[in-house]
Amino acid sequence: MPTINHLHAREILDSRGRPTVKCCCELQSGAVASASVPSGASTGTAEALELRDKDAKRYAGLGCLKACLNINQITAFALCNKPLETQRELDQLLLELDGTPNKSKLGANAILAVSLAFARAHALERGVTLYQHFSDLAGQPRSAIKPPTLTVNLFSGGKHAGGQVEIQDVLVVPVGASSVDEALVIIFAVYRAAMELTRKKYDARPLVADEGGLAPPFPSIEAMLSDAVASIEAAGLHAGRDVALAVDVASSHFYDRGIYTIGGKSLDTDAMIARVKGWVDTYPIVSVEDGLEEGSIEHWPKLRAALLGKTLTLGDDFLCTNPHRVRQAIAAGAADALLLKVNQIGTLTEAADARKLAREADWKVVVSARSGETEDDWLADLATAWGDYIKVGSITRSERLAKYNRLLEIERELLST
Ligand code: PGA
Ligand code: ZN
Repeated sequence: MPTINHLHAREILDSRGRPTVKCCCELQSGAVASASVPSGASTGTAEALELRDKDAKRYAGLGCLKACLNINQITAFALCNKPLETQRELDQLLLELDGTPNKSKLGANAILAVSLAFARAHALERGVTLYQHFSDLAGQPRSAIKPPTLTVNLFSGGKHAGGQVEIQDVLVVPVGASSVDEALVIIFAVYRAAMELTRKKYDARPLVADEGGLAPPFPSIEAMLSDAVASIEAAGLHAGRDVALAVDVASSHFYDRGIYTIGGKSLDTDAMIARVKGWVDTYPIVSVEDGLEEGSIEHWPKLRAALLGKTLTLGDDFLCTNPHRVRQAIAAGAADALLLKVNQIGTLTEAADARKLAREADWKVVVSARSGETEDDWLADLATAWGDYIKVGSITRSERLAKYNRLLEIERELLST
C-alpha cells in the first residue's frame, strides 16, 4: 500500500518563462518521483483555479510560491504517513483538503502536482511503466495501450501568435502513418515545406509561436488552411489520404455577446456554423475544436449536426475536462470528442471520470498539452494509455519534443514486449 513519506514542491519556469509548480513525492517504499504542471493561455472560464501569488513585484504577480507552500505545509502535513489504497483515495483527500468548487484554496496547480507526482511514484513502487499505471487507473486491459495518433501544430494564430488570424491552430494529422516513427518522418517533411512557404510566399522568417507552429501574416483563415494543404502537397504527400488537417478555432476568444468577429466581419451563431462548415467542405479537416464558444451549449448540437459524418466536434474550453460538463454535452448531443487536459480540472481521477463518460458515449479522446509546458513528459504516457489522439504542439521547441521523444521510446518498448 503506498504511503507518502515526504512531499516537496518548488517553483520552476514553464516554456513561456512563467512560474509553475514541480512536486517531488517520496513513498515509504523508497520510490521517489516528481512531476511538473503545465499552464494555459487561451483558458476556459470553467477551468479550476491556477493559484498565483499576485505579488506585482515578482514575475508580474504570476509567482507560484503560495501554491508550493500549500503543498509543503498543508498537503504534506495531511497526507504524509497515511496509508493510501488508490489514486482515487489520494485525489479525494486533496479535494477535501481544498474544499472549494474550483480548487481556489490550495490551487489546481498545487493539487495536480501532487496527484501526478504520487502517480509516478506509485508506478515505480509497483514496478510498472507510467503508461501501464495510467491504463490500470482507468481499469483497462493491456490491449488498450497503444500510441496515439499525432495531431501536430503547423500554423498558429489567436492567443498563441499575437492574434494575426483569429483561429488558434491549424494542425496536421498523419492519418496514413502506421506508427509514431512514420508519423514524425511525415510531419518533418510537411513542416519543412511550410517553412519554405513562409519564406517564399510571405517573405517572413520562420519564427515560431507558443506551441512551435509557424505564424506568417496570413491574410485570412482560408489562406492559412490552403497554405497547410499546399505544404502537404509540396512535401509530395496527398492531402486527406496521407495527411489530414484539424483546426482549433478557440472561438471563445473572438466572441462577444452573440457575435464572432472574424477578419473584420461580425458573424452570428448560425453564420459562424456556416463558416466552419464551409472550411470542412473545402479542406480535408478531420476535427474541429471549439467551433463555437464555451457557453453556447444550446447551439453546439447544431454545429455537431453540420459536421457529423465528416469531422469530429471536439470540446476544449467548452468541456474543460469536467465530468459535469461532459455529462451535459453528451445529453445534449453537443459534441463527439473530448480534449483532455488534466490541469483544467486538477486531479487525475476527475480527468479519468470525464474520459470514462466520453468513452461510454463512444466519443474520441484527444489528450492535450498546454501552451505553457515544461520538459516533463508524463503526457506521452497518459496519451498512450488514455488517448485516441495526442495534441502537443509542433515538432520544434524542446518542451514539445520531450513528449514526442517519449512517445518514440514507448513505441519501441511496446514493439519489443
Ligand atoms: P492553452 O490552449 O493551453 O493556451 O489554453 C491550448 C488549446 O486551446 O488547445
Ligand atoms: Zn483549444
